[in-house]
Amino acid sequence: MEKQITVINGDGIGPEVTAQSIKVLDAIAAVFGHVFRYTHALMGAIAIDQTGNPLPDETIAACKMSDAILFGAIGDPKYDNDPNAKVRPEQGLLRLRKELGLFANIRPISTYAALQHLSPLKQKQLEGVDFIIFRELTGGIYFGKRYVSEDGQYASDECAYSIPEILRVADQAFKYAMSRRKKLTLIDKANVLETSRLWRKVVQQLSVQYTEVDVDYMFVDNAAMQIILNPAQFDVVLTENMFGDIISDEASVLSGSLGLLPSASVGTSAALFEPIHGSYPKAAGKNIANPLGSVLSSAMMLDHFKMTDEAAAVREAVKWTLANGFVSKDIDAINNYSTHEIGDLLVDYIGKKAKSGAARNAVLNASTII
Ligand code: IPM
Ligand code: MN
Repeated sequence: MEKQITVINGDGIGPEVTAQSIKVLDAIAAVFGHVFRYTHALMGAIAIDQTGNPLPDETIAACKMSDAILFGAIGDPKYDNDPNAKVRPEQGLLRLRKELGLFANIRPISTYAALQHLSPLKQKQLEGVDFIIFRELTGGIYFGKRYVSEDGQYASDECAYSIPEILRVADQAFKYAMSRRKKLTLIDKANVLETSRLWRKVVQQLSVQYTEVDVDYMFVDNAAMQIILNPAQFDVVLTENMFGDIISDEASVLSGSLGLLPSASVGTSAALFEPIHGSYPKAAGKNIANPLGSVLSSAMMLDHFKMTDEAAAVREAVKWTLANGFVSKDIDAINNYSTHEIGDLLVDYIGKKAKSGAARNAVLNASTII
Protein backbone atom coordinates (compact mmCIF):
# COMPACT_ATOMS: atom_id res chain seq x y z
CA MET A 1 0.00 0.00 0.00
CA GLU A 2 1.06 3.56 -0.58
CA LYS A 3 0.35 6.27 1.98
CA GLN A 4 1.00 9.99 2.09
CA ILE A 5 1.93 11.21 5.57
CA THR A 6 2.32 14.85 6.60
CA VAL A 7 4.95 15.13 9.29
CA ILE A 8 4.76 18.07 11.69
CA ASN A 9 7.76 17.93 13.99
CA GLY A 10 6.65 20.96 15.98
CA ASP A 11 8.57 22.21 19.01
CA GLY A 12 10.93 21.03 21.75
CA ILE A 13 11.54 17.28 21.61
CA GLY A 14 9.03 16.94 18.73
CA PRO A 15 11.67 16.57 15.97
CA GLU A 16 13.74 13.96 17.87
CA VAL A 17 10.87 11.68 18.80
CA THR A 18 9.18 11.99 15.41
CA ALA A 19 12.44 11.03 13.65
CA GLN A 20 12.33 7.68 15.51
CA SER A 21 8.75 7.09 14.38
CA ILE A 22 9.77 7.67 10.79
CA LYS A 23 12.63 5.18 11.12
CA VAL A 24 10.19 2.63 12.53
CA LEU A 25 7.58 3.32 9.82
CA ASP A 26 10.27 2.88 7.16
CA ALA A 27 11.31 -0.43 8.70
CA ILE A 28 7.68 -1.56 8.62
CA ALA A 29 7.33 -0.39 5.01
CA ALA A 30 10.42 -2.41 4.02
CA VAL A 31 9.24 -5.58 5.75
CA PHE A 32 5.61 -5.45 4.68
CA GLY A 33 6.10 -3.99 1.21
CA HIS A 34 4.48 -0.57 1.66
CA VAL A 35 5.52 2.88 0.53
CA PHE A 36 5.17 5.75 2.98
CA ARG A 37 5.79 9.21 1.52
CA TYR A 38 6.42 12.07 3.90
CA THR A 39 5.83 15.80 3.48
CA HIS A 40 7.20 18.00 6.24
CA ALA A 41 5.16 20.97 7.42
CA LEU A 42 5.44 23.68 10.08
CA MET A 43 3.29 24.31 13.14
CA GLY A 44 3.80 25.80 16.60
CA ALA A 45 6.53 28.07 17.97
CA ILE A 46 8.87 27.08 15.16
CA ALA A 47 6.24 28.18 12.64
CA ILE A 48 5.83 31.52 14.45
CA ASP A 49 9.60 32.01 14.37
CA GLN A 50 9.83 31.26 10.66
CA THR A 51 6.57 32.68 9.31
CA GLY A 52 4.88 34.69 12.06
CA ASN A 53 1.95 32.26 11.94
CA PRO A 54 1.53 29.19 14.23
CA LEU A 55 -0.31 27.37 11.44
CA PRO A 56 0.69 28.47 7.93
CA ASP A 57 -1.84 27.84 5.12
CA GLU A 58 0.58 25.44 3.41
CA THR A 59 0.45 23.20 6.47
CA ILE A 60 -3.34 23.02 6.38
CA ALA A 61 -3.23 22.29 2.64
CA ALA A 62 -0.62 19.54 3.07
CA CYS A 63 -2.62 17.93 5.90
CA LYS A 64 -5.83 17.97 3.88
CA MET A 65 -4.10 16.16 1.03
CA SER A 66 -2.56 13.42 3.13
CA ASP A 67 -3.78 10.08 4.46
CA ALA A 68 -2.56 10.87 7.96
CA ILE A 69 -0.60 13.37 9.98
CA LEU A 70 2.23 12.51 12.34
CA PHE A 71 2.73 15.26 14.87
CA GLY A 72 5.48 15.73 17.49
CA ALA A 73 4.77 18.33 20.16
CA ILE A 74 3.88 21.97 20.60
CA GLY A 75 4.80 24.78 22.99
CA ASP A 76 7.67 26.97 24.06
CA PRO A 77 8.33 28.52 27.49
CA LYS A 78 8.85 31.95 25.95
CA TYR A 79 5.08 32.02 25.24
CA ASP A 80 3.95 30.18 28.38
CA ASN A 81 5.53 32.82 30.55
CA ASP A 82 4.07 35.73 28.64
CA PRO A 83 0.31 36.08 29.21
CA ASN A 84 0.28 39.10 26.88
CA ALA A 85 1.60 37.22 23.83
CA LYS A 86 -0.69 37.92 20.85
CA VAL A 87 0.15 34.72 19.00
CA ARG A 88 0.73 31.41 20.73
CA PRO A 89 2.03 28.10 19.40
CA GLU A 90 -1.01 26.18 20.76
CA GLN A 91 -3.34 28.25 18.57
CA GLY A 92 -1.84 26.36 15.63
CA LEU A 93 -2.85 22.95 16.99
CA LEU A 94 -6.32 24.10 18.04
CA ARG A 95 -6.97 25.57 14.62
CA LEU A 96 -5.68 22.48 12.85
CA ARG A 97 -8.05 20.29 14.90
CA LYS A 98 -10.94 22.54 13.88
CA GLU A 99 -9.90 22.84 10.20
CA LEU A 100 -9.58 19.08 9.84
CA GLY A 101 -12.71 18.33 11.89
CA LEU A 102 -10.78 16.11 14.33
CA PHE A 103 -13.63 15.81 16.80
CA ALA A 104 -12.51 12.71 18.70
CA ASN A 105 -9.24 12.33 20.54
CA ILE A 106 -8.52 8.76 21.53
CA ARG A 107 -6.05 8.08 24.33
CA PRO A 108 -5.46 4.47 25.36
CA ILE A 109 -4.16 3.95 28.89
CA SER A 110 -2.30 0.69 29.25
CA THR A 111 0.21 -0.56 31.75
CA TYR A 112 3.39 -2.53 31.10
CA ALA A 113 4.57 -5.19 33.54
CA ALA A 114 8.17 -4.03 33.13
CA LEU A 115 7.25 -0.50 34.24
CA GLN A 116 4.81 -1.09 37.08
CA HIS A 117 7.41 -0.13 39.67
CA LEU A 118 7.51 3.38 38.15
CA SER A 119 3.85 4.05 38.68
CA PRO A 120 2.98 6.06 41.77
CA LEU A 121 0.24 3.50 42.38
CA LYS A 122 0.63 0.20 44.19
CA GLN A 123 0.97 -2.86 41.98
CA LYS A 124 -2.36 -4.25 43.24
CA GLN A 125 -4.25 -1.21 41.94
CA LEU A 126 -2.63 -1.53 38.51
CA GLU A 127 -3.84 -5.08 37.87
CA GLY A 128 -6.21 -5.20 34.93
CA VAL A 129 -5.84 -1.51 34.06
CA ASP A 130 -6.66 -1.10 30.39
CA PHE A 131 -8.94 1.71 29.34
CA ILE A 132 -9.34 4.22 26.58
CA ILE A 133 -10.37 7.84 26.80
CA PHE A 134 -12.57 9.40 24.12
CA ARG A 135 -12.12 13.13 24.50
CA GLU A 136 -14.26 15.52 22.43
CA LEU A 137 -11.75 17.74 20.68
CA THR A 138 -13.33 20.57 18.69
CA GLY A 139 -15.93 22.04 21.05
CA GLY A 140 -16.54 23.16 24.61
CA ILE A 141 -14.62 25.84 26.45
CA TYR A 142 -11.62 25.48 24.12
CA PHE A 143 -13.63 26.91 21.25
CA GLY A 144 -16.29 29.02 22.98
CA LYS A 145 -16.55 32.80 22.84
CA ARG A 146 -13.73 34.55 24.63
CA TYR A 147 -13.89 37.99 26.13
CA VAL A 148 -11.53 40.36 27.91
CA SER A 149 -12.83 43.76 28.98
CA GLU A 150 -10.99 46.78 27.69
CA ASP A 151 -9.62 47.69 31.10
CA GLY A 152 -8.38 44.10 31.51
CA GLN A 153 -10.34 43.69 34.76
CA TYR A 154 -12.64 40.93 33.52
CA ALA A 155 -12.34 37.89 31.27
CA SER A 156 -14.62 35.02 30.30
CA ASP A 157 -14.55 31.78 28.28
CA GLU A 158 -17.81 30.22 27.19
CA CYS A 159 -18.40 26.46 27.25
CA ALA A 160 -20.91 25.48 24.58
CA TYR A 161 -22.00 22.17 23.01
CA SER A 162 -24.64 21.19 20.50
CA ILE A 163 -26.37 17.80 20.30
CA PRO A 164 -24.70 16.82 16.97
CA GLU A 165 -21.27 17.63 18.41
CA ILE A 166 -21.91 15.32 21.36
CA LEU A 167 -23.61 12.62 19.32
CA ARG A 168 -20.80 12.03 16.82
CA VAL A 169 -18.08 11.45 19.41
CA ALA A 170 -20.43 9.52 21.73
CA ASP A 171 -21.37 7.21 18.87
CA GLN A 172 -17.69 6.46 18.20
CA ALA A 173 -17.13 5.72 21.87
CA PHE A 174 -20.12 3.33 22.01
CA LYS A 175 -18.90 1.54 18.88
CA TYR A 176 -15.48 1.18 20.45
CA ALA A 177 -16.99 -0.13 23.68
CA MET A 178 -18.75 -2.84 21.64
CA SER A 179 -15.33 -4.10 20.50
CA ARG A 180 -14.01 -4.16 24.08
CA ARG A 181 -15.47 -5.00 27.50
CA LYS A 182 -18.74 -3.19 26.66
CA LYS A 183 -18.59 -0.64 29.41
CA LEU A 184 -18.81 3.11 28.90
CA THR A 185 -18.38 5.80 31.54
CA LEU A 186 -19.46 9.36 30.78
CA ILE A 187 -17.50 11.86 32.85
CA ASP A 188 -19.21 15.19 33.36
CA LYS A 189 -20.32 17.75 35.93
CA ALA A 190 -24.06 17.37 35.43
CA ASN A 191 -24.80 18.44 38.99
CA VAL A 192 -23.64 21.96 38.04
CA LEU A 193 -23.25 22.52 34.30
CA GLU A 194 -25.96 22.84 31.66
CA THR A 195 -23.62 21.47 28.96
CA SER A 196 -22.98 18.38 31.10
CA ARG A 197 -26.74 17.79 31.43
CA LEU A 198 -26.97 17.91 27.62
CA TRP A 199 -24.15 15.33 27.39
CA ARG A 200 -26.03 13.04 29.78
CA LYS A 201 -29.28 13.38 27.84
CA VAL A 202 -27.59 12.56 24.52
CA VAL A 203 -25.67 9.61 25.96
CA GLN A 204 -28.79 8.26 27.70
CA GLN A 205 -30.74 8.44 24.43
CA LEU A 206 -27.94 6.88 22.41
CA SER A 207 -27.48 4.05 24.91
CA VAL A 208 -30.84 2.64 23.78
CA GLN A 209 -29.14 1.70 20.49
CA TYR A 210 -26.34 -0.06 22.34
CA THR A 211 -28.22 -2.12 24.91
CA GLU A 212 -25.26 -4.46 25.40
CA VAL A 213 -23.10 -1.59 26.64
CA ASP A 214 -23.22 -1.02 30.34
CA VAL A 215 -23.24 2.79 30.79
CA ASP A 216 -22.38 4.67 33.92
CA TYR A 217 -22.13 8.35 34.72
CA MET A 218 -19.55 9.93 36.95
CA PHE A 219 -18.92 13.50 38.05
CA VAL A 220 -15.48 14.68 37.04
CA ASP A 221 -14.30 15.39 40.59
CA ASN A 222 -15.17 11.85 41.64
CA ALA A 223 -13.65 10.49 38.41
CA ALA A 224 -10.37 12.24 39.20
CA MET A 225 -10.34 10.29 42.44
CA GLN A 226 -11.52 6.96 40.95
CA ILE A 227 -8.74 7.01 38.33
CA ILE A 228 -6.28 6.76 41.19
CA LEU A 229 -8.29 4.61 43.62
CA ASN A 230 -9.66 2.01 41.23
CA PRO A 231 -8.51 2.54 37.62
CA ALA A 232 -9.32 -1.04 36.60
CA GLN A 233 -13.05 -0.21 36.71
CA PHE A 234 -12.82 1.79 33.47
CA ASP A 235 -13.14 0.47 29.93
CA VAL A 236 -14.22 3.27 27.58
CA VAL A 237 -14.29 6.74 29.10
CA LEU A 238 -16.18 9.46 27.23
CA THR A 239 -15.88 13.10 28.11
CA GLU A 240 -15.87 16.68 26.87
CA ASN A 241 -12.81 18.63 25.74
CA MET A 242 -11.45 20.23 28.91
CA PHE A 243 -12.26 17.37 31.30
CA GLY A 244 -10.62 15.01 28.81
CA ASP A 245 -7.49 17.14 28.69
CA ILE A 246 -7.16 17.03 32.46
CA ILE A 247 -8.06 13.42 33.21
CA SER A 248 -5.92 12.04 30.38
CA ASP A 249 -2.79 13.62 31.87
CA GLU A 250 -3.83 12.25 35.24
CA ALA A 251 -4.42 8.77 33.81
CA SER A 252 -1.11 8.81 31.97
CA VAL A 253 0.86 8.44 35.18
CA LEU A 254 -0.65 4.98 35.70
CA SER A 255 1.53 3.58 32.93
CA GLY A 256 4.71 4.73 34.65
CA SER A 257 5.72 7.44 32.21
CA LEU A 258 3.89 10.16 30.34
CA GLY A 259 6.50 9.62 27.63
CA LEU A 260 4.89 6.32 26.64
CA LEU A 261 1.39 7.35 25.78
CA PRO A 262 0.10 7.73 22.25
CA SER A 263 -3.03 9.36 20.89
CA ALA A 264 -5.09 9.53 17.74
CA SER A 265 -7.34 12.41 16.73
CA VAL A 266 -9.93 11.38 14.21
CA GLY A 267 -12.81 13.00 12.41
CA THR A 268 -14.63 12.58 9.18
CA SER A 269 -11.60 12.39 6.89
CA ALA A 270 -8.03 13.15 8.00
CA ALA A 271 -6.53 11.73 11.18
CA LEU A 272 -3.67 12.98 13.30
CA PHE A 273 -1.37 10.94 15.53
CA GLU A 274 0.68 12.40 18.36
CA PRO A 275 2.20 11.43 21.69
CA ILE A 276 0.30 12.95 24.58
CA HIS A 277 3.40 14.41 26.18
CA GLY A 278 4.28 18.04 25.58
CA SER A 279 7.33 19.67 24.03
CA TYR A 280 9.52 19.07 27.15
CA PRO A 281 11.76 22.06 26.32
CA LYS A 282 14.39 21.18 28.92
CA ALA A 283 15.21 17.97 27.06
CA ALA A 284 15.06 19.43 23.54
CA GLY A 285 18.08 18.60 21.39
CA LYS A 286 19.67 16.43 24.10
CA ASN A 287 18.75 13.06 22.59
CA ILE A 288 17.27 11.90 25.91
CA ALA A 289 13.52 12.06 25.25
CA ASN A 290 11.41 8.92 25.25
CA PRO A 291 10.42 8.20 21.64
CA LEU A 292 7.86 5.50 22.53
CA GLY A 293 4.85 7.84 22.82
CA SER A 294 5.46 8.87 19.22
CA VAL A 295 6.27 5.34 18.04
CA LEU A 296 3.08 3.99 19.63
CA SER A 297 1.16 6.84 17.97
CA SER A 298 2.56 5.55 14.68
CA ALA A 299 1.21 2.12 15.60
CA MET A 300 -2.22 3.75 15.99
CA MET A 301 -1.69 5.28 12.54
CA LEU A 302 -1.00 1.82 11.11
CA ASP A 303 -4.21 0.55 12.72
CA HIS A 304 -6.00 3.48 11.09
CA PHE A 305 -4.58 2.34 7.72
CA LYS A 306 -6.01 -1.11 8.58
CA MET A 307 -2.45 -2.47 8.74
CA THR A 308 -3.13 -4.56 11.82
CA ASP A 309 -0.15 -6.92 11.59
CA GLU A 310 2.13 -3.97 11.01
CA ALA A 311 0.78 -2.17 14.10
CA ALA A 312 1.20 -5.35 16.14
CA ALA A 313 4.82 -5.64 14.98
CA VAL A 314 5.54 -2.10 16.23
CA ARG A 315 3.90 -2.79 19.60
CA GLU A 316 5.82 -6.03 19.95
CA ALA A 317 9.09 -4.20 19.29
CA VAL A 318 8.18 -1.59 21.91
CA LYS A 319 7.39 -4.29 24.49
CA TRP A 320 10.70 -5.96 23.69
CA THR A 321 12.69 -2.76 24.37
CA LEU A 322 10.85 -2.23 27.67
CA ALA A 323 11.27 -5.82 28.81
CA ASN A 324 15.01 -5.75 28.05
CA GLY A 325 15.78 -2.45 29.69
CA PHE A 326 16.41 -0.53 26.46
CA VAL A 327 14.73 2.50 27.94
CA SER A 328 15.18 6.25 28.08
CA LYS A 329 16.14 8.39 31.04
CA ASP A 330 12.57 9.06 32.22
CA ILE A 331 12.24 5.33 32.85
CA ASP A 332 15.70 4.52 34.19
CA ALA A 333 17.82 7.39 35.45
CA ILE A 334 21.01 5.29 35.62
CA ASN A 335 21.01 2.71 32.84
CA ASN A 336 19.46 4.32 29.85
CA TYR A 337 19.62 4.61 26.09
CA SER A 338 19.34 7.69 23.92
CA THR A 339 16.33 8.61 21.83
CA HIS A 340 18.13 7.62 18.63
CA GLU A 341 19.49 4.38 20.08
CA ILE A 342 16.00 3.28 21.06
CA GLY A 343 14.82 4.09 17.53
CA ASP A 344 17.65 1.98 16.08
CA LEU A 345 16.90 -0.91 18.44
CA LEU A 346 13.24 -0.89 17.38
CA VAL A 347 14.26 -0.90 13.72
CA ASP A 348 16.71 -3.79 14.29
CA TYR A 349 14.11 -5.82 16.14
CA ILE A 350 11.51 -5.33 13.39
CA GLY A 351 14.05 -6.30 10.70
CA LYS A 352 15.41 -9.34 12.56
CA LYS A 353 11.98 -10.58 13.51
CA ALA A 354 10.92 -10.36 9.86
CA LYS A 355 14.00 -12.31 8.77
CA SER A 356 13.47 -15.06 11.33
CA GLY A 357 9.79 -15.18 10.31
CA ALA A 358 10.81 -15.45 6.65
CA ALA A 359 13.33 -18.17 7.50
CA ARG A 360 10.69 -20.09 9.44
CA ASN A 361 8.25 -19.80 6.55
CA ALA A 362 10.94 -21.01 4.15
CA VAL A 363 11.53 -24.08 6.33
CA LEU A 364 7.81 -24.71 6.59
CA ASN A 365 7.43 -24.41 2.81
CA ALA A 366 10.35 -26.70 2.26
CA SER A 367 8.91 -29.30 4.58
CA THR A 368 5.55 -29.18 2.77
CA ILE A 369 7.35 -29.82 -0.53
CA ILE A 370 9.10 -32.83 0.97
C1 IPM B 1 -3.20 18.18 24.56
C2 IPM B 1 -2.50 19.48 24.86
C3 IPM B 1 -3.24 20.59 24.11
C4 IPM B 1 -4.64 20.64 24.64
C5 IPM B 1 -2.56 21.96 24.18
C6 IPM B 1 -1.13 21.90 23.71
C7 IPM B 1 -3.34 23.00 23.43
O1 IPM B 1 -2.44 19.72 26.21
O2 IPM B 1 -3.24 17.77 23.39
O3 IPM B 1 -3.68 17.55 25.51
O4 IPM B 1 -4.91 21.27 25.69
O5 IPM B 1 -5.53 20.08 24.00
MN1 MN C 1 -3.23 18.12 27.46
